[in-house]
Amino acid sequence: MGSVAELSPATLTALIALVRKHTGIAMNERKSVLLERRLRPRMAALALASYQAYMDRVESDRSEVPHFIDLVTTNDTQFFRTPQIWDYVARQFLPRWQRSHPGQCLEIWSAAAASGEELYSAAMLCEEFKLQHGPLCYRILASDISQQMLDLAAAGRYSGRSVERLRAAYPALYARYLTADGADARVRDELKRNISFTRHNLLQPLRPARQFDLILLRNVLIYFDAEHQQAVIDCARPSMKPEARLILGESESIQRLASGFSFEAPMIYALRGSQP
Ligand SMILES: C[S@@+](CC[C@H](N)C(=O)[O-])C[C@H]1O[C@@H](n2cnc3c(N)ncnc32)[C@H](O)[C@@H]1O
Repeated sequence: MGSVAELSPATLTALIALVRKHTGIAMNERKSVLLERRLRPRMAALALASYQAYMDRVESDRSEVPHFIDLVTTNDTQFFRTPQIWDYVARQFLPRWQRSHPGQCLEIWSAAAASGEELYSAAMLCEEFKLQHGPLCYRILASDISQQMLDLAAAGRYSGRSVERLRAAYPALYARYLTADGADARVRDELKRNISFTRHNLLQPLRPARQFDLILLRNVLIYFDAEHQQAVIDCARPSMKPEARLILGESESIQRLASGFSFEAPMIYALRGSQP
């Protein structure tokens, strides 16, 4: 294949619109280098010499859309990201939930799960809770718009910084719930027992409809403009049980956006009128 044509301002505008159409993600012109870097290898693999030709492919061939989504989403994550949130889950949310829901099964949704570190962090805390306080039924649904990320999450195989941080900060959890697998570490099968995976675009209602006690919607709203943030919140709200908690990322807030929610603590929201 010859060299790829430059990304002209007009093509960049069209590309940004295509990203928004398929993911809701709001990019601006400053993302041109990032888009070029991410799309070029795919264009080379498809022997497409211009960004316009690649956009035409995405628009005309539905099977290309998942690849496009994988390329344009940002998937950074880590185990126990934002430790104060996990402290809240372990020390406040889980004990309170168990007291007020005897005999029920805790439903958790990791709604932008990326490669899975978040949902396994939640699963580890549920398992730890069981060790300390006795039986706890829990189920975790993990979803993401990127199938590639969901496949990584389902594999539960980690390497590099992701695992090193976990091993350094939480050695006991690492030892209990992960096992060495060559140069990698793998989440033990016991931790996967209560987890299911589904591809889901947060701009649409969850299908089949389900309701959760805890929704982790973290570090994804930042990628949307206000209109799409509102749409995500509107789609997520019906998935909350009356006393559910919604947890956002560190630099996210829905106070400007969403009436109908009450603020419990930074990053933590309840449905307005619900009992603690
Ligand atoms: C930065 S990661 C956040 C991972 C994890 N929640 C955390 O806080 O560490 C953002 C994830 O949101 C996903 N995402 C982006 N747009 C989405 C959409 N419209 N619907 C569902 N997931 C989306 C991306 O694929 C990516 O895996």
